[in-house]
Amino acid sequence: MSTEISLSDRIFWIGVNDRQTALFEELWPIPDGIAYNSYMILDDKVAIIDAVKDISMDRYLEKIRRLLGERRHVDYLIINHIEPDHSGGIKILREAYPDMEIVGNKKTLELLAHFYGITHNVRMVNDYDTLELGSCRLKFFLTPMVHWPETMMTYEETRKLLFSGDAFGGFGSLDNGIFDDEIRDLQSYEDEMLRYFTNVIAKYSVMVQKAISKIKDLDIAIVASTHGPVWRTRPRHAIDLYDRWSRQEAEEGFVIVYASMYGNTEKMMEAIGHALAAEKPGIIRIHNVSRSHASYIIADIWRYRAVIVGSPAYNMGLFPLMDHLLRLIENKGLKDRLIGLFGSYGWSGGAMKELTDFVGRMKWQLIEPAIEVKGSPTEEDLRKCRLLGSNMAQRLRT
Ligand code: FEO
Repeated sequence: MSTEISLSDRIFWIGVNDRQTALFEELWPIPDGIAYNSYMILDDKVAIIDAVKDISMDRYLEKIRRLLGERRHVDYLIINHIEPDHSGGIKILREAYPDMEIVGNKKTLELLAHFYGITHNVRMVNDYDTLELGSCRLKFFLTPMVHWPETMMTYEETRKLLFSGDAFGGFGSLDNGIFDDEIRDLQSYEDEMLRYFTNVIAKYSVMVQKAISKIKDLDIAIVASTHGPVWRTRPRHAIDLYDRWSRQEAEEGFVIVYASMYGNTEKMMEAIGHALAAEKPGIIRIHNVSRSHASYIIADIWRYRAVIVGSPAYNMGLFPLMDHLLRLIENKGLKDRLIGLFGSYGWSGGAMKELTDFVGRMKWQLIEPAIEVKGSPTEEDLRKCRLLGSNMAQRLRT
């Protein structure tokens, strides 16, 4: 990839791709990597917008050196978000450019001191403050909790670029160009945006809505997030995706997520799945919680309107991986889904009670019948499973 990728005259992409990290936040799989986008404005003043994780720092500094040419001086580092995937390299960057002033809001500067011990040569900005670079003029919009308390967005007013921090970002390294119009399999990036949003940002959906509302009147030519593609052809599309997901709007479709130790709950899942399929209700996604990582299941449950959960009892409670999944979903505060329940047990129940408690806490709409079987399901049990599938399909139509 060329080291000089221009978003506009005087504005360049200097990000790095991470293809080594297996789990983002040590939680979420990133088999296709992730990009830490960083940008540089070469004007009368030189500004870097967001730094990178402390990987590939040699290559990162080389990009900066090449763009600077004879100038050898960086005036500002603007921190939209100080989570270490964007700030891990700050100390090395500061050593390379000791005069560089670090710009952030009050919370940013507090975190800068706590994480890196940096307290000197910093500049605090407030909501709607501006910073002149020459022909470019930056304006700051505080957008807290998207996704940390200090997060903000920086808008370049003359070229109409929005440096949005984590907002509108996604998983996936940028391998075939960085712009939305250069990427041939853009749908796969959109899928990875949904997974990033649901895994990392979704808990703060209300704050995402506030941020989108705050920037709604801006004339935006380019959305430049800290992760994923730079949207220069359809910038509003990236914002619209986050808008829809943070409003928790669902698409028509079903997710069956189940666990099965000895095949009994699996038989029930198959009966439900066949009944659903016979009704031709649209997309049906099926996940075995022991085989699919929670990251992907959460993204599907966020996307689709109906979920059917099946668990065997384990030590008089839920199967542990199902318990883990449901805790994650509850923590993210997903609202307004249809849910069906099924499960089996050998010598003691317990799973169905915990599933029912989960539905009550989430205030989701339970579709009957809920089916709990001792041992292996009988023909009558499987008839009830088919009825659950059929009821769920019909409920989605109404
Ligand atoms: Fe990309 Fe919240 O860090």
